[in-house]
Amino acid sequence: MSDWHCFATSAELDTALAAHIARRLEADLHQRGCASLALSGGTTPIGMLRQLASQPLDWSRVWVTLVDERCVATDSPASNERMLRAELLQQEAAAARFLGLAGACNGDLGALGEQLRALPRPFSAVALGMGADGHTASWFPQATNLAALLDPAGPATVAATDPVTAPHQRITLTLPTVLDSREILLHITGAEKRDVLQDALAKDYPVAAILRQESTPATIWWTPK
Ligand code: 6PG
Repeated sequence: MSDWHCFATSAELDTALAAHIARRLEADLHQRGCASLALSGGTTPIGMLRQLASQPLDWSRVWVTLVDERCVATDSPASNERMLRAELLQQEAAAARFLGLAGACNGDLGALGEQLRALPRPFSAVALGMGADGHTASWFPQATNLAALLDPAGPATVAATDPVTAPHQRITLTLPTVLDSREILLHITGAEKRDVLQDALAKDYPVAAILRQESTPATIWWTPK
């Protein structure tokens, strides 16, 4: 079961998580000369990403990609790439090397898979969010290919999926790709998501795939709001 890091406020969590990720990146820059991050979209990580952007490290040797993306224009308010460019790829982190997922919305998943496999792996860290339906990444409960997305021995690095219960077709890293990381950081806020996460294993929500595995250390970063 994963360890919880609980904070009184979002501001405290954002500061602590940004510092934690920066330390993880620094360690990889020191040990292997490069580092890599896979980050989730949505709204929860915005404050943390703004703090991470100002962390003083050699971002030119850090590769950043997304855990998932909505198939919309990259200047759309719904675009995770737009959010990441606005909130993280600024200040010090503007020098980071970014690999977006939206290009695969045209169907060329093979090329994107090759690019993802060429990133420094394992990832230094993967940051996940979670929806109130227990989805994480774009592993949605009613997606017809959910089993393939969560197959720990599946061959696909990245896949397209129809969430069914959320807007936009998605491109998402698969479970084996997310697990190919030195650590997984699950960032959630509020009592509702806390309760959903505590029920995740019993209800077999998609996020349970992260909680039940033991190959990659996973921690939960939570604040009441
Ligand atoms: C996305 C995210 C997704 C997100 C959850 C939580 O594209 O929506 O990658 O997995 O982490 O939906 O989103 P919020 O942080 O906005 O609640």
